[in-house]
Amino acid sequence: MAGAELVVGGEKRLIAILLKGLQGPITVSGKPFNGAMPAWEKVLTDKKIAAVASFVRAEWGNGAPEISESKVAAARKELESQSAPYTESLLLQIPADASLSEGAVAPSSPAPVPDVRPSGAPTASASGQSADTEQIQMAAGKQVYSTICMACHQPTGAGLPPVFPPLIGTEYVTGSPERLAAMILKGNAGPLTVDGKLYNNVMPGQESVLTDEKIAAVMTYVRASFGNKAPSVSAEVVTAARKKFADRKTPWTEAELKSF
Ligand code: HEC
Repeated sequence: MAGAELVVGGEKRLIAILLKGLQGPITVSGKPFNGAMPAWEKVLTDKKIAAVASFVRAEWGNGAPEISESKVAAARKELESQSAPYTESLLLQIPADASLSEGAVAPSSPAPVPDVRPSGAPTASASGQSADTEQIQMAAGKQVYSTICMACHQPTGAGLPPVFPPLIGTEYVTGSPERLAAMILKGNAGPLTVDGKLYNNVMPGQESVLTDEKIAAVMTYVRASFGNKAPSVSAEVVTAARKKFADRKTPWTEAELKSF
């Protein structure tokens, strides 16, 4: 992001990327990249998008002026009908120096995550946790899901094949709690087959972002949502995994995950 034209150049390209995401081959500062950045329009408010855009434009020697909340609101409205993420060619159709006009600030809140059916949460706890604890975990887990996981795995948990895999009924979600904790802590990368489809992307680890309680909560949430019915997970499981893999610095590969 330091000195990148897409960051310090026209306001519209940067805000368009943040709202809708960007995927596929792209050249940045002369180097080719080929990955996927998720869309943030359903996760972040106009105010937060304006704040982070202004931050990256001012940091690392960038020195570009800030972008106001009302400009983000105007861009959100203008690009409303576009649902697909940007590709390089689509992005280049926006003039490099296009700025945004001030719009009216509307109270825009991120889309709500669907409520979990109470029947989805197991009552007789296989993890030995009380029903009260599980209820608290479900609420906290939904919060973590909507601020972190949802941008990639989507509000429905169905993902966005072939870039982000689904969390519905997969062995990684409903299987070993230790493995799922390890994945959320360290991330995973490279070829991974989920539901018979091949993915080859990167999921960032959350070990320096989320506490053990929050990771246990989001695990409990995804294991009992989207039609999944796996037992809740206590924070101790995450604490133990964090300790066991303390020296591990890289994301997991499929071969390692399979051998758990
Ligand atoms: C930046 C996007 C991104 C975020 C944020 C993210 N994931 Fe992922 N996730 C991925 C990708 C991409 C893969 C597949 C990685 C690969 O191709 O090797 C994946 C794989 C997975 C898998 C294993 C495959 C499957 O579908 O069962 C699980 C489980 C999972 N993620 C759960 C989560 C949870 C829970 C969170 C929130 C704490 C989260 N992810 C946050 C992108 C993301």
